[in-house]
Amino acid sequence: MKNDKIEDIKKLLEEDKKNIKDIKMLDEFKIKYLGKKGFITELNSEIKNIQPEDKKTFGQAVNELRKIVTDFYEEQKEKYENEILNERLKNEAIDISLPATKISIGSPNILEKLIEEVEEVFISMGYDVVDGPEIEEDKYNFEMLNIPKGHPARDAQDTFYIEGEEILLRSQTSPVQVRTMLKGHGEIPIRVICPGKTYRRDDDDATHSHQFMQIEGLLVDKNISLSDLKGTIDVIVKKLFGKDIETRFRPSYYQFTEPSVEVDISCFNCNGDGCNICKHTGWITVAGAGIVHPNVLRMSGYEPKEWSGFAFGFGAERLAMLKYDIDDCRVFYNTDLREVKIFDRWESE
Ligand code: DAH
Repeated sequence: MKNDKIEDIKKLLEEDKKNIKDIKMLDEFKIKYLGKKGFITELNSEIKNIQPEDKKTFGQAVNELRKIVTDFYEEQKEKYENEILNERLKNEAIDISLPATKISIGSPNILEKLIEEVEEVFISMGYDVVDGPEIEEDKYNFEMLNIPKGHPARDAQDTFYIEGEEILLRSQTSPVQVRTMLKGHGEIPIRVICPGKTYRRDDDDATHSHQFMQIEGLLVDKNISLSDLKGTIDVIVKKLFGKDIETRFRPSYYQFTEPSVEVDISCFNCNGDGCNICKHTGWITVAGAGIVHPNVLRMSGYEPKEWSGFAFGFGAERLAMLKYDIDDCRVFYNTDLREVKIFDRWESE
C-alpha cells in the first residue's frame, strides 16, 4: 500500500515536471515535494509506521524520489538562471560603436586660474595673499600713496567716485599696500600680494574694461633694492611664460615709487625677433613697479631710514591674454556659456 503511494507521488511528480514554465513554478514544485509539508517530507515521516522488513525498501524508494526532485530542481534552476542572465545581457548590451554622450562640466575661468598660479608662486616665496575693499577711501587710493588732491596723476586713473570726493571704486590695488603697512605698525617686514578687482571710467573694447584685475605686490624689509625686485619678477615671469624669458626694467613714473620702472619681458612668441604680440619690439610690458617712495613708507608708519621696500602691479587680464593667447579681454567677464567654452581647452593643463 505504501508503495502505491510512492508510485502515485512519482506519477504526479513526473506530470508536474512537465508543467513547469519558469523559475517561480520550479520553486513551488520544490516546496510541494520537499517543503516542510511536502509529499516526500511527509512520506519520510511515515517510515516509523512501516514494517521493519519493509523499512529498507521504503526508505530507498523515498530517497530515490527525493533524488529525482533535487536533480531536476538543480538542473532546471541552472537552466532558468542562464536564461535570465542571457536576457539581461541582451537588454543591457553596450554598443561600443555608438558615439559617447558628451558630459559637459564646468571649468574655472582662466583669469582665476592664472591668479591662482601667481598666488602659488608667491606663497612659495613666503608671501601672504591679502585683500582690501573695492569701495575705497580717497585717502588710501590716492593720498597715502603720495598722490595729493588736485595732483595731475589722479587724472590718469579716471576714477569712479561714489560719494563726493572721498569714497570711490578703487582705481588700483595699490591702496592695499597702505592698508597692509598700517596693520604692520611700522614694525614687521611685509611680504604680500593682493589680486583684486579695480575700476576705471574706461570705454570697453578688446583691451580695456571698466572693471579689470590687478595683482599688487609689496615687500618691506631692510636694505631692499631694485635687484631684489628684478629677481622676484624674474621668478614669476619665468614660471608663467617659460624659463628662457628675460626681464627688463625701463624707467617710468609713479607717485608712490622712486625710482619707478615699467617691467618688460622678452617676447615668448618670437624670442625677440619681432611679431604682432610684441608689436615688433621683441618686448612686452607686463607690470609697473618700483622702490616704495619714502613718503609712502613714512605715511604708513614705516621709517624710511630703517625700512625699504619694493612694489609692483601686474595687469591680470593682460597676463592671462598673453599666456592663453586671447585677443579680447571681455571674454573673461562673458557669461555666455557658448563663448566661455574656450576655457575648457586649458582645463587639462
Ligand atoms: N597701480 C599702478 C597702476 O594702476 C600699477 C603699479 C605701479 C603698482 C607701480 C605698483 C607699483 O605697486 O609699484 O597703474
